[in-house]
Amino acid sequence: MANPDTIFSAPIDKIGDFTFDERVAEVFPDMIQRSIPGYSNIISAIGMLAERYAKPHSNVYDLGCSLGAATLSMRRHINQEGCQIIGVDNSSAMVERCRLLINAYRSDTPVTIIEADIRDVDIQDASVVVLNFTLQFLAPIDRRALLEKIYAGLRPGGILILSEKYIFEDESANELLIDLHHDFKRANGYSELEISQKRSAIEHVMLPDTIETHKQRFNDIGFKSAEVWFQCFNFGSMFAIK
Ligand SMILES: C[S@@+](CC[C@H](N)C(=O)[O-])C[C@H]1O[C@@H](n2cnc3c(N)ncnc32)[C@H](O)[C@@H]1O
Repeated sequence: MANPDTIFSAPIDKIGDFTFDERVAEVFPDMIQRSIPGYSNIISAIGMLAERYAKPHSNVYDLGCSLGAATLSMRRHINQEGCQIIGVDNSSAMVERCRLLINAYRSDTPVTIIEADIRDVDIQDASVVVLNFTLQFLAPIDRRALLEKIYAGLRPGGILILSEKYIFEDESANELLIDLHHDFKRANGYSELEISQKRSAIEHVMLPDTIETHKQRFNDIGFKSAEVWFQCFNFGSMFAIK
């Protein structure tokens, strides 16, 4: 059973910015499952999309791989000669645990986990790139350059899968979706204190975009088509095809 997430359960005097440190890595599977509506559906579907889009002798990237949930899902589904998966994360606590989880089982599709900033890694000859709840943690000013680099490194017909938390321009719709997300967290056993302390910790480090901003940016960069394929409350996932 996953270690329970109790990080924000006791009152914290001075709430610092949220980081993906050792404490978070230790409880991450429980935290993400109880915090992101639809997370396991998205992970399963990433495997299905990778099965369709991964090409022989190409690279598949999982950027901001954390403990490798998307990598493992893709590895289970990909059956292409010479295809390899490269997971990247800049949290050493995540990378260390991710490598252990990946190495626990062997597979015909090789996986390399790199500890690095996703802004610094080369994206080359890619058929599939995954950003599963990672872009939102990048400074807004850095997002376009990363997506341009991904576009340049994708083969024609390749796919980018981008899952994010969204904000909505319509104020009342935005508030309703935020409330529903908090209901989801309550239903998953988080207290009012946990919800509000986590919100304070994350509000400066996670700045969501609107769906329209994502679509416009994909379009400006040159992606042929971009659509939302999953949404639950203010969380969702899009694909963009080169
Ligand atoms: C919400 S988690 C991603 C969850 C994961 N993709 C999954 O499907 O379970 C965000 C991850 O992105 C990583 N991250 C954030 N900014 C990064 C950056 N600039 N370079 C590399 N990794 C980054 C964090 O360390 C964290 O592990």
